[in-house]
Amino acid sequence: MFKGLTAAIVLGIAQPLTSVAADGVEVNHLGVSNTLVRVTGEGKYLILPVQENVDDAKINVIVDGKIAETIYVKLALTKTDYTVPYDLTPYKGHNVVFDVVIPQGRGSVREAKGDVCWRGMTLADTFDTTNREKYRPAFHHTPLYGWMNDPNGMFHKDGKWHLYYQYNPYGSKWQNMTWGHSVSTDLLHWEHKPEAIKPNGLGAVFSGSCVVDKENTAGFGKDAVVALYTSAATSQIQSLASSTDDGTTFDIYPGNPVITLESEARDPKVFWNNETKEWNLSLAHALDHEMLFFTSPDLKNWTLSGNFGKGLGAQDGVWECPDLFELPVEGTGEKKWVLICNINPDGPFGGSGTQYFVGSFDGRTFKADTDKDGNVATKWLDYGKDHYATVSWSDAPSGRRTAIGWMSNWQYAAEVPTLQFRSANTLPREIGLFQGPDGEIYASSAPSPEVDALRGDLVKKAGKISAGKSPRTIALPEANDGICEILLDIEAGKNSVTDLTLANEAGDKVVMTYDANAHTLSFDRTHSGVVDFSQDFPTITVTPTHETSGKISLRIFVDRSSIEVFGDDGRFVMTNLVFPTSPYSTLSVASNGGGARISNLRIYSLRAE
Ligand code: FRU
Repeated sequence: MFKGLTAAIVLGIAQPLTSVAADGVEVNHLGVSNTLVRVTGEGKYLILPVQENVDDAKINVIVDGKIAETIYVKLALTKTDYTVPYDLTPYKGHNVVFDVVIPQGRGSVREAKGDVCWRGMTLADTFDTTNREKYRPAFHHTPLYGWMNDPNGMFHKDGKWHLYYQYNPYGSKWQNMTWGHSVSTDLLHWEHKPEAIKPNGLGAVFSGSCVVDKENTAGFGKDAVVALYTSAATSQIQSLASSTDDGTTFDIYPGNPVITLESEARDPKVFWNNETKEWNLSLAHALDHEMLFFTSPDLKNWTLSGNFGKGLGAQDGVWECPDLFELPVEGTGEKKWVLICNINPDGPFGGSGTQYFVGSFDGRTFKADTDKDGNVATKWLDYGKDHYATVSWSDAPSGRRTAIGWMSNWQYAAEVPTLQFRSANTLPREIGLFQGPDGEIYASSAPSPEVDALRGDLVKKAGKISAGKSPRTIALPEANDGICEILLDIEAGKNSVTDLTLANEAGDKVVMTYDANAHTLSFDRTHSGVVDFSQDFPTITVTPTHETSGKISLRIFVDRSSIEVFGDDGRFVMTNLVFPTSPYSTLSVASNGGGARISNLRIYSLRAE
């Protein structure tokens, strides 16, 4: 290359323009939008500077002359918002060149020199993932950096809960869909593992599921972990990958795809059906607003066996991320099947939401129960605005149906006021079934028992408080930025409307209102703090409380940027993001109408680590 350059200079012909670059990095601008970055030095990472509001640059990573992968990064043009690391260790000892195409056309190649990213591309042996943000949750799962959406591929094996998630390692907005991976023994503390499945020739790696193949039906070995996921490029097709190291690394199946359809379909969720002795797979037929069902003896060969949903439930959004499982109905001795059907938009308060149907499944197809008028009711697992893509773990112990959701909403997930990372998952939840006062069967969603271990000091305990018009105010814990769990029972007087208000000195507040006549609980975050990043954010969400007694029991989890309200052991739930300018420091209780009695109030400070 140097020889070529010298010859070019001698002959006086055009030559590439170089930028000032860091040690061990050589930058050559080739045209108005194309630049080659060659790694000549040593380092574990090439640090990439990112600017959030510019378009993605397309980078072909060329190793020894061959394209190893293509990634899309918002390379900084005028300022660096944050940096992300590109891991060079797999290519140690090889020639690595980043062939960068920046979409913004420039007038001349000289302008390219001015971009701030070239100087910021440095070699490093470490990347600092220490939290730098006030809104990073203290007790919810988040990626260390980068963007996350759906939890997926979750399985439990040998005492470990494996959680994969839709991940962009190269920026805090959606792109480069990869399966990130975290592992936990208690569903609270997560060890961050290397990325498990990366985009490949068939496309980006969208959502899917994992199963432990206990009988080696697929031939990858007894207890191999088998992932089924959507490969998304020009079209969406279903792919398989297998792992013999408990889900740490996966081999892409050479026979992919294993399912193809003419129209958009995604997010395969698989389970072993003990009755029929075969695998069942649910697949979202996204634009057709239905779920498809397939069967297979070996996880590789799939036969379409049924479909469900056309014209039923909420229909305006695309149908995504299905889940299908059987559960006992509390107190009845009966069992029912639940079909989870995440939809976006057209959630209960706009944007994303988790709808479900209760009914039967015969190993081939799902059929929903009808109500007394012969209709199929529209039901939501969580009546907050930030609960999506909820699916459950495969092989959870003791017959548990443990699920987790993405704690955001596609309406504004990419705009929330965080930068180093975007999005957290909800607390883990146990799904159950119960019969409501109207005779209908509903799903409950209660905090997993492991969550109790978060409790630190009991900072407030009160037997009985009578709530009237003038508010009674109680201080909230200060430790760990005020993160806390609030438990209380409300016994409402006739026609009473009871407000629970969380507030801070700056006047930010969240008002939760129990209307005993309407049998609803609402959550008003219109003045909860920073709300102006999206017009869809300041909202009031409302859940039915499924009771006729005028009594409810609440468990409220307050993290740095979220509030989850569980009522009556998860019979009603609301999950909402909030971005208070400083932590909420008081809880006030007031009641209009017939007044209310608050009992069993307990406030725990929660552990941050
Ligand atoms: C749901 C979803 C899935 C898809 C994934 C892509 O949020 O749209 O249907 O697999 O996100 O990241």
